[in-house]
Amino acid sequence: MTLLTRSLSGLRPLTHLTTIRHITTTSKPAANLATARVPEQNGSQQPYFRDEPSSPVVRTAIPGPNSKKAIEDLNQVFDTRSLNMMANYQNSYGNYIADLDGNVLLDVYAQIASIPVGYCNPVLLAAATSPQMASATINRPALGNFPQHDWADILRAGVLKVAPRGLDQVFTAMAGSDANETAYKAAFMWKRRQERGPDVEFSADEIASAMNNQSPGSPHMSILSFKSGFHGRLFGSLSTTRSKPIHKLDIPAFDWPQASFPMRKYPLEEYTSENAAEEARCLVETEDLIQNFHNPVTAVVVEPVQSEGGDNHASPEFFRGLRDITKRHNVMLIVDEVQTGVGATGKFWAHEHCTYFLEQ
Ligand SMILES: Cc1ncc(COP(=O)(O)O)c(C=O)c1O
Repeated sequence: MTLLTRSLSGLRPLTHLTTIRHITTTSKPAANLATARVPEQNGSQQPYFRDEPSSPVVRTAIPGPNSKKAIEDLNQVFDTRSLNMMANYQNSYGNYIADLDGNVLLDVYAQIASIPVGYCNPVLLAAATSPQMASATINRPALGNFPQHDWADILRAGVLKVAPRGLDQVFTAMAGSDANETAYKAAFMWKRRQERGPDVEFSADEIASAMNNQSPGSPHMSILSFKSGFHGRLFGSLSTTRSKPIHKLDIPAFDWPQASFPMRKYPLEEYTSENAAEEARCLVETEDLIQNFHNPVTAVVVEPVQSEGGDNHASPEFFRGLRDITKRHNVMLIVDEVQTGVGATGKFWAHEHCTYFLEQ
């Protein structure tokens, strides 16, 4: 999920739900499995999936013979170079992922933090097999133009119930990358509207130059991201991704700045002053780029915990400093919760650990 925090009035806040992506809706074994198992709902001491496996089962080398055969077959029609294991989702349950050879493994990462509520979650399965879901799936409306009659109720009863404080409208996107890109575009439009004036029409020059990808219609502006950050692989979001060259090689990119993200030393209690100095250094660098980068910085995008780029954490003071800087320079702060959101850090949103993000 990507959140756009409001630094000034006049921008509609955006909330994008992008997380739950893998739901088995049609498989009979899954339906049987799930209806047979009712999740434990009350009491935090009880496991949520009452009868999920109590330990992994390893029957063969991994990949086993069935998996090898299936991978070979898949390789004929699909790129398998990034494959970790071939899964059988109908036989996976709770925190345990099954393969094709009778092996069942404990999935401590929820894939890439993309299945936060467990495999074959019966509550999701019930929702996914409801008539309402079937209608939504087969009719898949162009929401902006033809929203469903009860879309407001669906949003209020769903994602808005867990919306961060101060964010009261939703913009849906298909994936994390395009959620981020939508936030970037909103930031650019917010800034240009500010510069132009709220009720000023586009000029003829802007209209003509935009069609040639030229300024002033396509203005020279930028999004600042942090070294090691990951924000997706689409064209715009990839320019802010800084984790690994392999994601970026051969792809044209925007000329946008990157600042250092704090690399703290552990154990924290032994490196208090070094870590404070490191965070201060990164904030100075960020502010310098905001003030001096040749393509003016419109927004800063940051993960509350850098995930794909190496599990890098910064202190609440760092994030508070970042918010102060962005406010002072009239720059948006975009909090990318694609990886950390929906409960992954113990709160629904990771930035809730640092409430000051939305306080100001
Ligand atoms: C922090 C972060 N932002 C954005 C993305 C991109 O999301 P998607 O793969 O859904 O486009 C990811 C994907 O892992 C991510 O971890």
